[in-house]
Amino acid sequence: MTETAPTAEQFWEDFYREHDQVWTGNPNKTLVREVSELTPGTALDLGCGEGGDAIWLAARGWQVTAVDISSTAMARGAEHAAAAGVEITWARHDLHADFPEGTFDLVSAQFLHSPVEQPEERAIILRKAAAAVAPGGVLVVGGHHGWPTWVTTPPHHVDFPTIEQVLDQLALGPEWQVETAELVYSPSTSPEGVEGERADSVLRVRRG
Ligand SMILES: C[S@@+](CC[C@H](N)C(=O)[O-])C[C@H]1O[C@@H](n2cnc3c(N)ncnc32)[C@H](O)[C@@H]1O
Repeated sequence: MTETAPTAEQFWEDFYREHDQVWTGNPNKTLVREVSELTPGTALDLGCGEGGDAIWLAARGWQVTAVDISSTAMARGAEHAAAAGVEITWARHDLHADFPEGTFDLVSAQFLHSPVEQPEERAIILRKAAAAVAPGGVLVVGGHHGWPTWVTTPPHHVDFPTIEQVLDQLALGPEWQVETAELVYSPSTSPEGVEGERADSVLRVRRG
């Protein structure tokens, strides 16, 4: 009998249910560096996971809609948000099939990597993300630029697009300005204590 690949929803539900908490709860540095100076407005957090970014944004005055394919992850986010005393709109979507309506001053996609999705599927999501940015607003895409230096054999295949590939996927029109397109290097330690570093890419584009 042939084994069928899990759907994206099954994959991410299993991923989150395996542990009580997966992420630190801290906001991603890629988001913090690009958004700290912006005036709060409406924000859409795509692939919000357990809500670390959404809660940080809401605490700074953003009106946040946080979206993920995993109800388990978002239920944890909602608990953390209640504990932090912030309000967030949580919405479950498989972003490839079904994207939230409306436009936002900030659309954020941080580490929206998925071993069960193809580059073309991510490209579709990113183009919908750009379409959801209000005039004058920004899209911030943060992503890993490869595995940490201490990984000798990747545990599974994940597509880590370069900034140029993300820009190609976005296919932005002339009304857009690229404000940030950089690699950021951070120290990274393996579970066994091997020291190394990891590169992340950060892209911030503004709709004119
Ligand atoms: C690597 S995690 C990053 C989570 C969070 N942004 C962070 O940085 O902590 C990727 C997230 O994207 C979500 N995701 C993957 N594919 C998705 C899809 N098609 N629609 C909505 N969410 C998706 C996963 O459930 C997961 O929470």
